[in-house]
Amino acid sequence: MALTHDGANRTSNAKLLNWVDEIAALTQPDRIVWCDGSEEEYQRLCDEMVASGTFTKLNPEKRPNSYLARSHPSDVARVEDRTFICSLNKEDAGPTNNWAPPDEMRAQLKGLMNGCMKGRTLYVIPFSMGPIGSPIAQIGIEITDSAYVVVNMKIMTRMGQKVLDTLGSDGFFVPCVHSVGAPLAPGQQDVPWPCEPDIGRKAIVHFPETREIWSYGSGYGGNALLGKKCLALRIASSMARDEGWLAEHMLILGLESPKGDKTYVAAAFPSACGKTNLAMIVPPKGFGNWKALTVGDDIAWIKPTADGTLRAINPEAGFFGVAPGTSYDSNPMAMESIKGNSIFTNVVLTDDGDVWWEGMGVAAPAHGIDWQGNDWTPDCGRVGAHPNSRFTAPAGQCPTIDPAWEDPAGVPISAFIFGGRLSKTFPLVYQAFDWNHGVFMAATMGSEATAAAIGVTGIRRDPFAMLPFCGYNMASYWGHWINMGKKPGLKLPMIFRTNWFRKDANGKFAWPGYGQNMRVLKWIVERVNGQVGAVESSFGLMPRYEDLDLEGLDFSKAQFEMITSINRAEALSEIEEIKTFFAKFGAQLPPELESQRQEFGKRAEKAPEVWTVEAA
Ligand code: OXD
Ligand code: MN
Repeated sequence: MALTHDGANRTSNAKLLNWVDEIAALTQPDRIVWCDGSEEEYQRLCDEMVASGTFTKLNPEKRPNSYLARSHPSDVARVEDRTFICSLNKEDAGPTNNWAPPDEMRAQLKGLMNGCMKGRTLYVIPFSMGPIGSPIAQIGIEITDSAYVVVNMKIMTRMGQKVLDTLGSDGFFVPCVHSVGAPLAPGQQDVPWPCEPDIGRKAIVHFPETREIWSYGSGYGGNALLGKKCLALRIASSMARDEGWLAEHMLILGLESPKGDKTYVAAAFPSACGKTNLAMIVPPKGFGNWKALTVGDDIAWIKPTADGTLRAINPEAGFFGVAPGTSYDSNPMAMESIKGNSIFTNVVLTDDGDVWWEGMGVAAPAHGIDWQGNDWTPDCGRVGAHPNSRFTAPAGQCPTIDPAWEDPAGVPISAFIFGGRLSKTFPLVYQAFDWNHGVFMAATMGSEATAAAIGVTGIRRDPFAMLPFCGYNMASYWGHWINMGKKPGLKLPMIFRTNWFRKDANGKFAWPGYGQNMRVLKWIVERVNGQVGAVESSFGLMPRYEDLDLEGLDFSKAQFEMITSINRAEALSEIEEIKTFFAKFGAQLPPELESQRQEFGKRAEKAPEVWTVEAA
């Protein structure tokens, strides 16, 4: 017998009502709850999770209205090996995505999901990616059997009844089905973090043509909060290609000059490059009254408007940041954002009911409970917080949130910045000669392989920082970017690449980074506004020592040379490596990118053995 629920009182959208009934028939939950997105609902679910042991309420004097969750040790990160793009044709998923035939995958999912919510509640979460009603926003509906997911979605998206009201009776939504994959037998006691512990049975599946998401077996992060990576990047990138816009793994930052002029930039970095720090950068003290204001820290949806401007929104409403390494030194605005009303997952619980993690910039507690729920002391030989432990916090709590961060029209983007973590070869900052050169710079970006990536040497390419997030063939995605550059009337942003991580002869980082990166951002803004010079290198257009505002920083011309000089042999070897990388994409590779590679080769051949800005 079909379960009764009050869906008909919430929406007149017949497609939605039918779909909820269909998923309920498949997954067989005990009850169905339509989430209204209210504070009362949030509080009720948090209280229930405290009672069931999923949540620990933190000390309200230290961390008001905040909770800690500990996940199952098998469920601590996105599962890229189990993430699939199930396009009709394999070629449309491309060489960088896992693919399975859609019919086969559907059959598999139906098997996995059959009865998977037994003993549990099926929650219906209506959510908007982007300010509700924005012409750039999209509506998704996530069905989940996890209350943890509901409360995180409440922070990360605009969620609840108001979304259904905007959806109306025939609005379009992306259906997202999520189950932790842990049905309960009658009378069976639940565990604090239910999930499918067998990684091989977890599956995060996207059907780009029908714009559907199915996620089974994990309750963690991007595997489960389906608005973020699944909808806002994988499905949205596919929509963006079809509709002529951009869905990007980019932060959005507003930079205000002392005169009050505002320039917005969007920036993409592979993981472990300090993207969240840059998204909330605080200019160094005394740096001429420049202000940096955050619009978003992870994702940008960018659409051309009638006058050719590219306008961007942050589709998210919260930050889901990596905790370890976040401190008042590395990211003071993130620390301010998580003072309350936040959820922490897999960090240390201190004896006074607060949280702690490695790299928090405060002394470790003498004793705490680690992410696995065990007693922990600083000398026990184990980390206390999982390296991918997270905070979930409302973006509006960031003291330097941009006043326009929720503007439904978005903010105008004047520059794209791409970066990587590279100890040599790549200069601090360089500007593309033109759009296609910029696309080439972004397509070939990456970070140096770390010791953890066994067997990988050289650069691990992460084109546009989209490697795990592009919902279709990566080479066609590059083609989409090339095509954007051909649209008549578009005001194309300038494109830059940065590298904060060049090392000196002693293996030490040669550039101070963090807040000091504001000096590079200032040069970028001044380039955009035609206020500062540059010299040409084989890589692109670069600042001279005097073009970079180094006032108040003890940074000599010799140090500047160390992070901007270009070694010809290293450049040529990079150009050869790119050839191998491009070969993976076969005939799909846009010819413009191969010609960019060859032009780069010609410039590098002509350059001196060691090129310096000074001698240029
Ligand atoms: C993230 C990621 O969690 O990019 O934002 O992995
Ligand atoms: Mn990200």
